[in-house]
Amino acid sequence: MSELERADMQGILMSAYAHLPCAAYMMLRVAEPRGARAWLRTLAGGITTGGGKDEQSSVNVALTHPGLAALGVDARALATFPMAFQEGMASEKRSRVLGDTEDSAPASWRWGNAATPVHVLLMLFARDETILSAVIDAQKRGVAGSNGVEHVLTLSAGRQPDTREHFGFNDGTGQPVIAGSGRKMRQLRRTGHATEVQPGEFVLGYVNEYGVPAETPLVDATRDPGKVLRDVDLPADLLFARQGSSSGWRDLGRNGSYLVFRQLSQDVARFWQFVDAATRNGNGPGDPDARVRLAAKMVGRWPSGAPLVKSPERDDPSLAHENNFGYADTDEHGFACPIGAHIRRCNPRDSLGDDPKKARAAANRHRLLRRGRSYGDRIADPLVDDGRERGLHFICLNADIERQFEFVQQTWINNPMFGGLTGEVDPLMGTQTGRGTHTVPHDPLRTRIHGLSRFVHVKGGAYFFLPGMAALRYLASAEA
Ligand code: HEM
Repeated sequence: MSELERADMQGILMSAYAHLPCAAYMMLRVAEPRGARAWLRTLAGGITTGGGKDEQSSVNVALTHPGLAALGVDARALATFPMAFQEGMASEKRSRVLGDTEDSAPASWRWGNAATPVHVLLMLFARDETILSAVIDAQKRGVAGSNGVEHVLTLSAGRQPDTREHFGFNDGTGQPVIAGSGRKMRQLRRTGHATEVQPGEFVLGYVNEYGVPAETPLVDATRDPGKVLRDVDLPADLLFARQGSSSGWRDLGRNGSYLVFRQLSQDVARFWQFVDAATRNGNGPGDPDARVRLAAKMVGRWPSGAPLVKSPERDDPSLAHENNFGYADTDEHGFACPIGAHIRRCNPRDSLGDDPKKARAAANRHRLLRRGRSYGDRIADPLVDDGRERGLHFICLNADIERQFEFVQQTWINNPMFGGLTGEVDPLMGTQTGRGTHTVPHDPLRTRIHGLSRFVHVKGGAYFFLPGMAALRYLASAEA
């Protein structure tokens, strides 16, 4: 296995920046390519890489396909990017795949659609609010002083009091570890388990879970006379099959990744009111324990984070970060964690198919490195709508948008036939119609919850390319 070139990667690939709890996402548009490249050159010097850790703040950058085009990347190179990225999240085809319909359709988004396109994403992280606002100001000054990029909008993630998302569940535990990243022991200590996945599942230029190098965007060598980029490191026959010639290409993708960003608003009161109504006995009083139990059956973990398969009857905060479990041996029928629960759909682990080992290997070809952050204030009373927006800036990294993020969204989250179920989708964030169901298996009798509607709406989104550091310098150079 080739060693990871961490110093040539942006830091967000290696770290979720948990030591930097405040974050903001600045979206920009390229107005003029020369000026934008000059701005990018200055920015590149301040990017946090995977080779080090900054205790105060971090800056990472990513670009959409129209952003790369606006920067002046030539058409041949642009055509080597995968189709999902070229088409973009808001395109009709991708919307169909993702289930972005009705009030989650791109036409109603705040950004990332035809009305408000974005080219560049700046991800800003800081130790505290004061440092974050200084970082935002400095970046805004840089943008205002350039004559190449324009500010579109800045999304604040602020600071959350803990690691729970707004429905009230501990988030961020089920994460794969990039093999060779040196993070295995840390993850083992924290969660009791570490699933190592080949680097090529997340970082372009490395071998993936199929044992082949991840598909990577390329640049004609004549467009890189300064040799900023490395010659492409692919077997000649594979390169020929992909490009029609086996030499003369440089690797624009190396040490980069694809970043999926979705602004997901969460209707917390509606979620808990639904769960409240579903657990009441006729007109009887609400039952807080029954509410939490049903909500946990929708998520697959208790609010503390304890997995239902490890603690089926009650929450157990001592298992808050527990990740050492499968479903095949202990919970085949979903008596503990329902088959349609959010975490079981998003990562079925060893449960799909007859052979648990093969099932786990297959599931590991659809893993996501989640890097999102919640936004908005916590709700004071989850049963009372306060009219304020809150949600999740869902961000994930993957080497293949179609095979990873879109597959999880389409084939697992929104699949009515998932795992032998019929006619139901992810109860937490699936494309519900108002008539949705969620089956909670039980022995002897299962329960079926009816009338689920959408608790999560898409407010904006885009597919970005997160370049490696050499690629960033190339994009900022005159040749691109
Ligand atoms: C507002 C929307 C969402 C909420 C509130 C939410 C909430 C959660 C929670 C509470 C967990 C369990 C804790 C953990 O393992 O980290 C979880 C796990 C997970 N979620 Fe979500 N999620 C949301 C959207 C998504 C989306 C859009 C995807 C992917 C398309 C996704 C993929 C995952 C994955 C892969 C896991 C880990 C499963 C595992 O390994 O067991 N989530 N989510």
